[in-house]
Amino acid sequence: MDSTTGLKEGRDVTATMPDAFLEVEDLHKAYGSVVALNGVDLSVQRGQIVGLLGPNGAGKTTLVSIICGLRRADRGKVTVNGIDALSHPQRARAFIGLAPQDIGIYPSVTVLNNLQLFAELTGLSGRAVATQIEQIATALRLDELLDRKAGELSGGQKRRLHTAIALLNEPPLVLLDEPTTGADVETRAALLEVVTDLARRGSSVVYSTHYLQEIETLDATVVIIEHGNVIASGAVHDLIAASGGSIVAITFAGQPPSHLNGYTASVDGSVMRVTTDDPGRATAQILEQLGAESSRVEGIEIIKPSLETAYLAITGHRYTQGEERNVVAS
Ligand SMILES: Nc1ncnc2c1ncn2[C@@H]1O[C@H](COP(=O)(O)OP(=O)(O)O)[C@@H](O)[C@H]1O
Ligand SMILES: [Mg+2]
Repeated sequence: MDSTTGLKEGRDVTATMPDAFLEVEDLHKAYGSVVALNGVDLSVQRGQIVGLLGPNGAGKTTLVSIICGLRRADRGKVTVNGIDALSHPQRARAFIGLAPQDIGIYPSVTVLNNLQLFAELTGLSGRAVATQIEQIATALRLDELLDRKAGELSGGQKRRLHTAIALLNEPPLVLLDEPTTGADVETRAALLEVVTDLARRGSSVVYSTHYLQEIETLDATVVIIEHGNVIASGAVHDLIAASGGSIVAITFAGQPPSHLNGYTASVDGSVMRVTTDDPGRATAQILEQLGAESSRVEGIEIIKPSLETAYLAITGHRYTQGEERNVVAS
């Protein structure tokens, strides 16, 4: 095993014990009067992918930035591979590959030059530079673009280069902050493949995204953050199983009715939602019950059990606003 991966020897000895590569405990951070993190706990094992979910402003970027020493915590503890990362950020940083939310590449030089520069900064030299660049460039479909100026790449291509830089040298802890923002289909597919592969080879991954489908594809452990607190966590299938069935979402012109017989409805603005195991039957019954009120129905959507329904059940609102797809609008 390459010593640069930082994997501990004697791993089998501790195989029965929790083997967290990253441990965050009771982390607090405020910017003036804005509380960004309010006692966050997070644990990521070797080979585990944690999908970090939360609306804008939840504290995801602050959390990731503190883990890799870019921002200071007010209090709490961060341990990376057994190292106290708040006291020894440089030592911890050696184990971390970070792709920040905002793209950071040198636009005036080529893709290859960007990769070479960052490879050398991570301590690679000699043949290892070329080998690692070739591997990550192939994996992220950058191999045809190596001679292009970074500034002339498309948005998705820039995102791939930005992420490739973070993944040079296969870091044992990978922090990807919204790596598919503005990404095209090819970029998203390549990224998900690379992340899956890294985890399979033992890296711990923290992956924040606005696309729940990606978390399902990665089969990640979900951690939901709101207002600087972890409000739920667990395996995708456990969260889905606990959320209790499909959701019928009915959008009204104006305020939804406040009560339904036989169903528990939650109201979010103009949308009323009902959780049910039999969405077809529930839809028919609700429409019948609405009577004349049904003329105010603007759309009906049935959301099958998924991370989406789990997120809705946990938080009371949809993850990505503006994606409400009205399937029936009669
Ligand atoms: N440098 C900063 N100065 C002041 N407030 C900040 C700064 N960075 C983030 N915040 C605030 O902290 C909260 C958490 O932000 P952030 O960590 O960026 O959340 P997320 O990445 O989940 O969108 C937000 O209310 C944001 O406005
Ligand atoms: Mg962010």
